[in-house]
Amino acid sequence: MRSHPIRAGVVLLLLAMSVGCAKDEGPLFVPKPVDPELPAVTVHFSTEVLPIFTEHCWVCHPPMGNGMDLSAENAYTELVNVTSVNWGPAVRVAPGDPDASVLWHKVNYSPDFGLGMPPSGTALSNAELETIRVWIEQGALNN
Ligand code: HEC
Repeated sequence: MRSHPIRAGVVLLLLAMSVGCAKDEGPLFVPKPVDPELPAVTVHFSTEVLPIFTEHCWVCHPPMGNGMDLSAENAYTELVNVTSVNWGPAVRVAPGDPDASVLWHKVNYSPDFGLGMPPSGTALSNAELETIRVWIEQGALNN
């Protein structure tokens, strides 16, 4: 005699459940595969980018500089995806795209973006520029 298909299904289900409960393990942790297209994050805003602003920029931002506040508390929200006062609709920092970021042109003294930054005193070193460029390229994270 063939067993009823539904009854066989129930038996299988119960069997599967009892096997599943046999071991007292937590939920299986399946790590998300890392997207190989994503660049590894190597630059951190709080420990590498922010100190550059504190040392070279904060003296004028605020209170000068179009009201842009580059203090530790406000620099991130004042920069990323914020429309530039003088070069809108361009934004100050476009995540992933230094060339679309007014900040990047300013610190490189690009002739089409008015005053280079800082406008007086010592320009940023190549290492500092590299840090800012890579930070923007890696998505301008608040990390
Ligand atoms: C001596 C004062 C002074 C210093 C130091 C200074 N800035 Fe400025 N900044 C200004 C002034 C004034 C403006 C407004 C005129 C302009 O946009 O060129 C400005 C404008 C800007 C703008 C454009 C903002 C907008 O919305 O268009 C950015 C970006 C900027 N500064 C970034 C920086 C960075 C980064 C540093 C440090 C590397 C820095 N600044 C250092 C005075 C300064």
